[in-house]
Amino acid sequence: MERSGGQTLARIRVALLMSLAVLAFARAQNLTNDQLNAVKSNLIQGAKQSWELGTESEALTEFDTASYSVVNGSSVPPPLGSAPSSLGEVLAIAKNVVSNLTISSSSPDTPQPLDLPSGGAAGDSASLGFAVLLANWTGQGATDGLNYAAAATAQLNWTLTVVPRTSDGAISHRIEQVQLWSDSMYMVPPFLAYYGALNNNQSLLQEAHDQISLYRNYMRDTSAGGLWKHILMGNQSQVDEGHWSTGNAWAAGGMIRVLSTIQHSQFSGKMKNQVKDLISWTSEIHNAMYPHLTSDMLFTNYADDNSTFLDAASTAMLASTVYRLALLGGVHTHVPLAEQCRRAISAPLNSTNGGNSAPALQRRQAASATASGPSSHASSAASSGSSRASSGSASPTSSSAPAPTQSLLHFDGEMWLTPVPNPDSWTVAGQHSPESQAFVVEMYAAWRDWVDAGAPGANGARAVRVGVAGVLGSLAVGVWTALGWW
Ligand SMILES: *[C@@H]1O[C@H](CO)[C@@H](O)[C@H](O)[C@H]1NC(C)=O
Ligand SMILES: *[C@@H]1O[C@H](CO)[C@@H](O)[C@H](O)[C@H]1NC(C)=O
Ligand SMILES: *[C@@H]1O[C@H](CO)[C@@H](O)[C@H](O)[C@H]1NC(C)=O
Ligand SMILES: *[C@@H]1O[C@H](CO)[C@@H](O)[C@H](O)[C@H]1NC(C)=O
Ligand SMILES: *[C@@H]1O[C@H](CO)[C@@H](O)[C@H](O)[C@H]1NC(C)=O
Ligand SMILES: *[C@@H]1O[C@H](CO)[C@@H](O)[C@H](O)[C@H]1NC(C)=O
Ligand SMILES: *[C@@H]1O[C@H](CO)[C@@H](O)[C@H](O)[C@H]1NC(C)=O
Ligand SMILES: *[C@@H]1O[C@H](CO)[C@@H](O)[C@H](O)[C@H]1NC(C)=O
Ligand SMILES: *[C@@H]1O[C@H](CO)[C@@H](O)[C@H](O)[C@H]1NC(C)=O
Repeated sequence: MERSGGQTLARIRVALLMSLAVLAFARAQNLTNDQLNAVKSNLIQGAKQSWELGTESEALTEFDTASYSVVNGSSVPPPLGSAPSSLGEVLAIAKNVVSNLTISSSSPDTPQPLDLPSGGAAGDSASLGFAVLLANWTGQGATDGLNYAAAATAQLNWTLTVVPRTSDGAISHRIEQVQLWSDSMYMVPPFLAYYGALNNNQSLLQEAHDQISLYRNYMRDTSAGGLWKHILMGNQSQVDEGHWSTGNAWAAGGMIRVLSTIQHSQFSGKMKNQVKDLISWTSEIHNAMYPHLTSDMLFTNYADDNSTFLDAASTAMLASTVYRLALLGGVHTHVPLAEQCRRAISAPLNSTNGGNSAPALQRRQAASATASGPSSHASSAASSGSSRASSGSASPTSSSAPAPTQSLLHFDGEMWLTPVPNPDSWTVAGQHSPESQAFVVEMYAAWRDWVDAGAPGANGARAVRVGVAGVLGSLAVGVWTALGWW
């Protein structure tokens, strides 16, 4: 290799500068492991309601034990036999839930929900089914004596035979009336699908697909580009025909879970058309939502109403579904935008974006000014009002979240995502939303899987590949020169 010393040095200098720039660029774009652990810790301590615990169990599985999640590409069901310790939090949720049930020994299958929907949200208790099925599958009952299989089957029977339906068969999100909520798409169909995959029951996978299809017929608003409405039918004072961003994200997230459950099950070969439907319906929500992304790279709480507050929660959840759809469905259309959203959510606070003139900040301030705690709406409709709300953390973890060292634009000092809707009263901004923490965890789990898979997608993908090469290059060159081998 014949090169002049000057040329070589110049090349090294350029390489180092470029890779340092890439390093600085990368650092500003990802949450660190410590920051993500704080996000998770808040989720674990904050989740109390059934749908929060159900969403937590899914998010933690995707993040900590990817091969046991349905979205990762491993087979469904997961391996039989003892559970890895990383599933501890998820199994603790199942244990807390099932130890509170009374299961009849003579007819253990008798329909009953995993959590009493005292506030009326029948769909929410089904979201706990994933953790309970996993606890059964990994044999937890052998050590703690709980009948997880019966608990899951009782929930299934309750969902299928007790909860009321529309005349064409859509399962209500509420027990006391027929009312459809977009939220239900994340709570019910993924449970039906997982139960089906674990019990060799194709008709349940089909039912999961069909429930999404039925809901889509009601909720999708073709006069709004395909955005989903939030709440339809039943008590008119609870109906919300607005296009709630988190509702669209719940729907896309539920579709992704059913899609991947079918894909990784033993029925994938027989259910190719159902998979195609789910890919297309998820894309439909992405196509409807992303044109409404604001210049802050966040959605507003109602996607097509820019007078509503900015919302990082739906932004994070939807980004997770974009990475997943790229991996599961080969659809890359919105990957560059999801990358921009993820970077915006992870951005450090700086003199520019923290300045008073920043429109985002003004809107955030306006949003939090309206956040005066749960509204009267909450207790009646939005919240399941579970009697278990105060059941205490399902988690054995008791340490509080470590304070991050760096100020971030979209997290408070304790790593709670902001701005977000109040989880019990979605029309106003709130603080400390457990489901929003879960969405960040799911976004990062999906992003990590997507990066590991080679970051398939358009421009965002190339940038990441250059980034990885640059970082590795800088380390190699640094070691090389430091050791004086050049
Ligand atoms: C951010 O993510 C990219 C892609 O995985 C990686 O190359 C880079 O090292 C990460 N930066 C930090 C600070 O974690
Ligand atoms: C599954 O998760 C592992 C660990 O994050 C990752 O390396 C792998 O790429 C993922 N596979 C898919 C298809 O998401
Ligand atoms: C509950 O569901 C299981 C599984 O589908 C079924 O075998 C059983 O008959 C059902 N039991 C009741 C009481 O509905
Ligand atoms: C419970 O797990 C066992 C395997 O450990 C499995 O055979 C059975 O079908 C599971 N039951 C349910 C209801 O998922
Ligand atoms: C699948 O589950 C449904 C609902 O519980 C049940 O009616 C049906 O008998 C099951 N089919 C098989 C093949 O187990
Ligand atoms: C907000 O929405 C209105 C009506 O759709 C539109 O005319 C206006 O340009 C939007 N403003 C911004 C800042 O996007
Ligand atoms: C401040 O952060 C914003 C993103 O929030 C970014 O666009 C901008 O370049 C940053 N400014 C500086 C000076 O780092
Ligand atoms: C309808 O919903 C409103 C608001 O949640 C509630 O106050 C009212 O009691 C409900 N009406 C009926 C008939 O359930
Ligand atoms: C179990 O039920 C009791 C009595 O209703 C309640 O106090 C407790 O919080 C519940 N625990 C869980 C984990 O749901």
